[in-house]
Amino acid sequence: MQCFLPSVPMDGLPAMQRPAEPESTPQRPAYSAWLRDSNSITQQFMAIGGRPDIVSLAGGLPAAEFYPTAAIEAASKRALDRWGSAALEYGPIEGFPALREHIAARISKATGRTFTVANVLLTVGAMQGLDLLGKVLVDPGDLIVTQNPTYVGALDAWRPRRPRYVALDWSLREPDFGRALADAKFVYTVPNYSNPTGALVSTAARQALLERVVRAGTWLVEDDPYLPLQYDGDAGPSILALHGRMAPEGTYAGPVVYLGTLSKSIVPGLRVGWAIADPGMIQTLTLAKQSSDLTGSMLTQAIALELLEHGIEEQHVPGMVERYRVRRDALCAAASRQLGDWYEWEVPPGGMFVWMRARDPRIDTNDLYAFALEEKVAFVPSSVFDADGARRDAMRINFTRSRPEVIEEGIRRLARATERYLASL
Ligand SMILES: Cc1ncc(COP(=O)(O)O)c(C=O)c1O
Repeated sequence: MQCFLPSVPMDGLPAMQRPAEPESTPQRPAYSAWLRDSNSITQQFMAIGGRPDIVSLAGGLPAAEFYPTAAIEAASKRALDRWGSAALEYGPIEGFPALREHIAARISKATGRTFTVANVLLTVGAMQGLDLLGKVLVDPGDLIVTQNPTYVGALDAWRPRRPRYVALDWSLREPDFGRALADAKFVYTVPNYSNPTGALVSTAARQALLERVVRAGTWLVEDDPYLPLQYDGDAGPSILALHGRMAPEGTYAGPVVYLGTLSKSIVPGLRVGWAIADPGMIQTLTLAKQSSDLTGSMLTQAIALELLEHGIEEQHVPGMVERYRVRRDALCAAASRQLGDWYEWEVPPGGMFVWMRARDPRIDTNDLYAFALEEKVAFVPSSVFDADGARRDAMRINFTRSRPEVIEEGIRRLARATERYLASL
């Protein structure tokens, strides 16, 4: 992937603090070869979010002021009272048993199918699920079919495995698509309010893809962090649930690997996510997890269980969604007033992002980014979401992190940046 931003030094230490080394010190071994294709983009966008002078519309972060801090404090106390040292130990690699059971029951209810703990692996966020899937499925040169644009974290997770990519064509009409599916190790999609586009995939398209995947005999990774953030209507059934309907007997043994998380509905700091899959896949992911982190945190998994059992989602999510909707509308209204001549977008029915595409073919959002930073506003350019970094005509704008008046100021700055950029061409 092409990196348009300067890389952060690998060791992060300023030269002054390094121990003095004699001239004759031999060269240390080189870093692993895949790092030549890596970049520190996510790290840099996280850092920009911490700069008070910049309006960051870049990150994919929830609004910190809505975090249910008191509920988490009470749940932490209850978790320690209830589980004692069991919440403080290394635990089973598969995760805290009572939370696994809770998640199995929750997925069974949501899909109307039978899922047992054998179908559940607790992960350190959905991100670890993506990483483990790369570890267990992908060898160098293997093919992944992925929606394009796609989540940058997934591309990052799989980069060390050196895969090839084919873009998922949701119309399923691409002549080579069938062959790609047959050759692919898996298909990756975020059908609910995707990152970066905010798009919702129709039930018919999900069903059609699933049927093709079943026929091709490959895996389908359904990454679903944004499900709780619904602003206009319902998301419809997950692909996991659709497969259940096609094969109604027994514990789930289908091709869908479903990734869930509490990062967007409660807080990312718990780092609690889950993978739901065929028991054989769960065992294989567990094997890979063992060499990644030994176990996740039993403590945050026990706290998550307390939160879920006490109905945190029912109490917390509706109010948060209401406020996010106001922010989404503020962004779209400000953009209509100030950016409509230069960009087009759809109002996302859920999630965290608006995907703005340039109307003017001269606009390259990598180049625009420098002007935006001068105007003290940040967004994420489309190249980041493209496996080969080639897409330059769009940008991802986040609306959940900032208050409406800050979003409006950010859009004013983006308009100024666009005007100055175009004048410079
Ligand atoms: C599509 C997608 N998948 C996975 C993740 C990772 O989430 P988690 O915090 O659960 O690791 C994110 C986070 O932004 C995401 O957007």
